[in-house]
Amino acid sequence: MKRLFALVAVLGLVAGMAHAQGKLEIFSWWAGDEGPALQALIDLYKQQHPGVEVINATVTGGSGVNARAVLKTRMLGGDPPDSFQVHAGQELIGTWVAANRMEDLTSLFQQQGWMSAFPQNLIDLISTPNGIWSVPVNIHRSNVMWYVPANLQKWGVQPPTSWDDFLAMCPTLQSQGVTPLVVGENWTVQHLWESVAVATLGAQGWNDLWSGKIQFTDPQAVKVWDVFGKVLACTNSDASGLSWQQATDRVVNGQAAFNVMGDWAAGYMTTTLKLDPGTGFGWEASPGTQGVFVMLADSFGLPKGAPDPQNTMAWLELLGSKQGQDAFNPLKGSISPRLDSDLSLYNAYSQSAAKDWQSDTIVGSLVHGAVAKEAFMSQFADVMNIYLASQNSEQAANAAQAIANQVRLYD
Ligand code: GAL
Repeated sequence: MKRLFALVAVLGLVAGMAHAQGKLEIFSWWAGDEGPALQALIDLYKQQHPGVEVINATVTGGSGVNARAVLKTRMLGGDPPDSFQVHAGQELIGTWVAANRMEDLTSLFQQQGWMSAFPQNLIDLISTPNGIWSVPVNIHRSNVMWYVPANLQKWGVQPPTSWDDFLAMCPTLQSQGVTPLVVGENWTVQHLWESVAVATLGAQGWNDLWSGKIQFTDPQAVKVWDVFGKVLACTNSDASGLSWQQATDRVVNGQAAFNVMGDWAAGYMTTTLKLDPGTGFGWEASPGTQGVFVMLADSFGLPKGAPDPQNTMAWLELLGSKQGQDAFNPLKGSISPRLDSDLSLYNAYSQSAAKDWQSDTIVGSLVHGAVAKEAFMSQFADVMNIYLASQNSEQAANAAQAIANQVRLYD
């Protein structure tokens, strides 16, 4: 009898989901050029749940600089979206999980067989001893240097393998009227900083910076700013007005030789600009980071108090599925963390990233939420402004350490 009841309950749930009604509000910063991969997921969701009205709530602004602020207001004001984009790691754990604002998704992971479908190191990044708190949809790489092979040939340079190598070729490019390295608005400059820091400190040193073993004021960490300053001298002077896409455009149209950006740039160059990886654009690990993969993962969770939790669970189920991930990632420039992802669906860039993901030393991104909580991340923009205004390494290092202490970075 008990079994019969259970069966009826399960059938009822399945039937209920097939005829799911109501709304689903998905909150992210994937607007405009960043939208196609998310749209592919939403299209799949609508096929599966035609009765649900999907609200695709986006706040423009690369790396979520604006979206995170809006999200904070909504969450603290008791108006959470059904599901929101959040980076796996400290942006999730040190912020929304620490504030007890998320629902535990452990049973979803168990039901869907995700405990063995996702790599353990990624599950660790979205877990605490009390639960699993989001569903990762991708793996992006932060430390990539992009260029156009034919342009480099024309200018007589090769992709640099170290920052010294880059600094040596900087005058050659400048004398031909080419910007050696293009940067954009504040967060893209921080993004460059993280690549320079990993090159200067090494993977272990980078990890030590986030665990507090190395302080920002230690000489080796101060040196990161010295190297960074020299690199910045080889960049464009109109950085603050450029989005990451506009910076990428400068490489594509031959105004700049290189940029360092996450591999959403590959998604932009293939999906939006229709360029072929290998010929239309080339890539290397950013100088001095060969063998290191600076990772980040976008994920979505279920906030406490979400208005449509059942529709959200169906959304999360799709996000974590092989079908969902292999629809999303080939358009996004990222790879699927699922161990059974079908790599034949991915282009040459993503296949090379998937190979490196398997063999490289993996560390987490600062700018994209893996290693530091939101309170530190958002204030690191101020540290960057201090450096840009003063060009003083010690001042920037002191400011970074003061913020680390103030937000209890190492707790
Ligand atoms: C990252 C995010 C990527 C991409 C990028 C540019 O933080 O993880 O998916 O959206 O920002 O906006």
